[in-house]
Amino acid sequence: LKVLFVSPEVDPFIKTGGLADVAGSLPQAIKELGVDIRVVLPEYSQVPDEYLNQLEHLLHYRTKVGWRDEYVGINNLDNKGVPTYFIDNKHYFDRTAVYGHDDKQIQFAYFCRAVLEMLPKIGFQPDIIHCNDWQTGPISIMLKENYKLYDFYQDIKTVYTIHNLRYQGKFDREILEDVLALDSAHWESGVVKHDNNVNYMKMGINMSDTVTTVSNTYAEEIKTPYFGEGLDYVIRMNADDVYGIINGIDYKKYNPAVDEEIYAKYDLENLEGKAENKKKLQKDMGLSAKDVPVIGMVSRLVEQKGLDLIGQVIDELMNEEIQFVILGTGEERYEEIFKAAASRYPDKIAANIKYDSTLAKKIYAGSDLFLMPSKYEPCGIGQLISLRYGTIPVVRETGGLNDTIQSYNEETGSGNGFSFTDYNADDMLYTIRRAVKFYNQPSEWQGLVKNAMKSDFSWHNSAEEYLELYQNTIAQV
Ligand code: GLC
Repeated sequence: LKVLFVSPEVDPFIKTGGLADVAGSLPQAIKELGVDIRVVLPEYSQVPDEYLNQLEHLLHYRTKVGWRDEYVGINNLDNKGVPTYFIDNKHYFDRTAVYGHDDKQIQFAYFCRAVLEMLPKIGFQPDIIHCNDWQTGPISIMLKENYKLYDFYQDIKTVYTIHNLRYQGKFDREILEDVLALDSAHWESGVVKHDNNVNYMKMGINMSDTVTTVSNTYAEEIKTPYFGEGLDYVIRMNADDVYGIINGIDYKKYNPAVDEEIYAKYDLENLEGKAENKKKLQKDMGLSAKDVPVIGMVSRLVEQKGLDLIGQVIDELMNEEIQFVILGTGEERYEEIFKAAASRYPDKIAANIKYDSTLAKKIYAGSDLFLMPSKYEPCGIGQLISLRYGTIPVVRETGGLNDTIQSYNEETGSGNGFSFTDYNADDMLYTIRRAVKFYNQPSEWQGLVKNAMKSDFSWHNSAEEYLELYQNTIAQV
C-alpha cells in the first residue's frame, strides 16, 4: 500500500498548531504497519536551517497556476524513515509569516498542483493521497478533473481529514478558472460554492473519496449549525462517509521517563521527579514555592480555546489557593487578559506570551492540572500530552476532549480528569474547585495521576484505523 500524506505543516519542520503534530507523527505510525507512506509540505523559509541543510535536491519542473507558469523544486530528506518532500518556490514560501497572506488562494492552488505533478516525476504512484485541511482541499477536484485522463493517476483515491472546520479558505469566484484552472460548471453545480465564494474546504469534503475528522464527537458535532461553521449541510450530505478517528501523540517524543527537556525524569512507579519538575517550574516562573496546585495551559490564544471563560472569572480563580502558568500567543484581546492578571497577581500567575516548545514540555511536566475549556475542539493535543505526563486535564466536554477525558468518579476511583458540559464560566470554576478539592486528598490524587498516565493515546490504534480506512477507500468503486 502506498500513501502520499499532504500537509501545510509538519512538525518539526514547521508548526503553527496541532495539525503539525499529527503530520509529524501519524505517518511514522502508519509506516510501522508496513505502508510505503511519504509526506509532502511547502518549503517555508521558516524551516530551521538544521533541516534545510539536510535537504537533497531531486528535480525541478514548471507548473501552471491559472495563466502563470511557475518553478517547482522538489527537495527531500528522510524523517525517521519517512521520505519527506519539500515543495520549493521562493516567491510563495519565502515570506515573513507562514500564514495570513493576501494571495493564499494562489499559494495553495500552486502547492496542490505542484504536489499532483510531482508524483510521476519522482516515480511514486500512491494508492491514496491523504489531504489535510483547507490548504489541500483543491487536490481531489484537480485530480478528478485534470489528471484522471492519464493512466498514471487513474486509480489514485483521496482521503480528506478535517482538523478544524473553522478555517475554510474562502475566495472570490474568479479564482475558479483563473487560479485553480477548473471548469466554470463547478460554480453552478454547488460543489465548490458556499456563500458566493469558492470554498477550498467544501471542495475537499465534496470531492474526496473519504472524509474524516479527528474525533467521533466532532464528527457528530459538525453536522449541527452550532459547530458546522456554515458547512454543516455539507457534512450532513456526506454523513455516511465522515469518519472520526481520534489523534494520538508520539509516545517517544513525549515520555517523562526519558525526556531530556524537562527538569527531572519520572514514570508511573516513581513520581518524585514530577514533584521536582513542579518546584523548578514554580521557581523559573517566579511563583512562590508553595504546595498549591499549579494549573498549566499551553495554547494558541484564539476564541476556540475558551479563553473568555477564564477572563470572566480570573479574579475568583485567583482567590483560590492555586497558581497558574500560561504559554502561548494569539489574539491581543486574549494575551491582554493574562498579561493584566499577571501584573495583578505576580506570585500566582505567570504569563508567557510566546512560542517555546521546551517550556511547553516543562509546563506539561511541572503542572498538577491542565486547563482546556475549549468552545470547540476537534481533537486537542494538549490534554493527551498532559495525561502522558501525569498532569490532570480539566476540560469542557466537546470534540476530542469529550472522547479522551473521563471525569473522575470518587465512588469508583475511575476517570482521568475533570470535565464540565456547558460553555459557562461558573461551571468551569466549579470544576476547577472540584479538582482542587481532590488535589488536597493525596491518596485520591495519586490514583488519578496513575489513571492519567495509564491512558493510552499512542498512535498505534488510530494508525490501524487509518489503514483500514485506506483499504476501504481503495475498494470503493
Ligand atoms: C486543530 C484542532 C485541534 C486538533 C488539531 C490536530 O488544531 O483545533 O483540536 O487537535 O487540529 O488534529
